[in-house]
Amino acid sequence: MPAPLPPTITADYQRDWPKYFEAVASLGPRDTLVRALDLFGPVAPGRAPVAIDVACGEGRDTREMLRRGWRVVAFDGTALGVERLLAGVPELDKPRLTAMELRMEDAPACESLPARADLINASFALPFCDPAAFPALWAWIVRTLAPGGRFAGQIFGERDEWAPVRPASHFSREQVLALLEPFEHEHFEEVEKDGGDALGTPKHHHLFHIVARKR
Ligand SMILES: C[S@@+](CC[C@H](N)C(=O)[O-])C[C@H]1O[C@@H](n2cnc3c(N)ncnc32)[C@H](O)[C@@H]1O
Repeated sequence: MPAPLPPTITADYQRDWPKYFEAVASLGPRDTLVRALDLFGPVAPGRAPVAIDVACGEGRDTREMLRRGWRVVAFDGTALGVERLLAGVPELDKPRLTAMELRMEDAPACESLPARADLINASFALPFCDPAAFPALWAWIVRTLAPGGRFAGQIFGERDEWAPVRPASHFSREQVLALLEPFEHEHFEEVEKDGGDALGTPKHHHLFHIVARKR
């Protein structure tokens, strides 16, 4: 008999996204994003850098990038995430936002995305990419970032509770370091702990928090 699924992830490695969006709606931006934005420093008036927010969810990180003066192209695989994002962005910031429903797997071939970005943010997003499409997605991230551009986000580790559901979406420390070969590490934090997930359900976490600058 197969081992029972962890209670917080479905057999096809998805979650109850509407419930998740509701649970995180009042939360601020992710620490990895804040670190990356701080490293870039203040945006000069009239010279908005370009960020891509991969699987932006309901928009907690996109809102912060816009607030700090960035131009943001944000996408998510759910229409609901994009709707919630658009509903939560102040009118003043909307001219610097492009938001679309798009699956990560389709990003490398998507002509509506910028060919160059200063920042690619993927907060708690990459594990949800179909593992067969992940190498192309990661190659797209690397080639789309301008030299000196930054990646911010998380990669899930091999000892995470969800790893048996989709092992190929979980990486060892060595594998993560190999993915980051084209980058200088600015923040690399491996976390392994028992704790709650976004909906408060207990979970064993193993993940890597990353801010990295493309050489
Ligand atoms: C854990 S949430 C993270 C959302 C947001 N980045 C945050 O930090 O709150 C993962 C997001 O991935 C999206 N997602 C799941 N599979 C996807 C896919 N194949 N392509 C694009 N987005 C996907 C979900 O809709 C959800 O918004």
